[in-house]
Amino acid sequence: MDIYYLYPLRTFLIAAGSVEKPNAMTADWVTPLSFNPPLLGVSIGHKRYTKKLIEEQKDFVVSVPTLELLKDVWVAGTVSGAKVNKAEKMSLTFVESKKVKAPSIKECQANIECKVVNEVEVGDHTFFVGEIVNVSYGDAFKEKPDVKNYKFIMHLSGRDFTTNSSEVYNP
Ligand SMILES: Cc1cc2nc3c(=O)[nH]c(=O)nc-3n(C[C@H](O)[C@H](O)[C@H](O)COP(=O)(O)O)c2cc1C
Repeated sequence: MDIYYLYPLRTFLIAAGSVEKPNAMTADWVTPLSFNPPLLGVSIGHKRYTKKLIEEQKDFVVSVPTLELLKDVWVAGTVSGAKVNKAEKMSLTFVESKKVKAPSIKECQANIECKVVNEVEVGDHTFFVGEIVNVSYGDAFKEKPDVKNYKFIMHLSGRDFTTNSSEVYNP
C-alpha cells in the first residue's frame, strides 16, 4: 500500500475512557500540528472502539511507550476493547490524568493529555485534532528526548518494529 512508503513511523498508545474503565489502542498515525495553541492530530479508523470512546468523551491521551512495552503495544494494536477488557490483557497501569478524564499510562515516558477541538472525516479514518492541556513525563524527556538511555518504538510493518539509534548528529 502506498502509505507504507512513509514508514518507519513512531508508535504511540492512545488511552481513552477512564481509570475505572480504561482502553488503550496503538497508533502510528499521530502528528504535531501547531505550537500555539498546542495541537496534535491522530487518525483513528472508523471501526475502532477508541473512536467511539473519544467521540463520547471528547478527550484522549497520547502515551509514549519505550521498547520494553512492545508486547503490550502489540496487544493494544491487535485486540479491540469493544469485545474484551484489554486492560486485563496488558501489564500497563492506568492512572488519573490531570486535566482530562481519559487515563494516563504510568509505564509510559510521556502522557500528552488532549481535548478534542476538531474532527475531520478522512476516508476510512477520523482525524481528531486535540489541544494539549497537560503533559506529564519521565526521565526520557528531561531536556530533549534521551536517545542514549531510552529506546522509542518505531513501526516498520506488520509485526516488525525497530528503534532509534543512540547517536546524535549535528548538521
Ligand atoms: C503498530 C500499530 C499501529 C497502529 N496504528 C493505528 C493508527 O494509527 N490508527 C488506527 O486507527 N489504528 C491503528 N492500529 C490498529 C489499532 O491499534 C487496532 O485496530 C486496535 O485493536 C484498536 O483497538 P480498539 O478497538 O480497542 O480501539 C495500529 C496497530 C498497530 C499494531
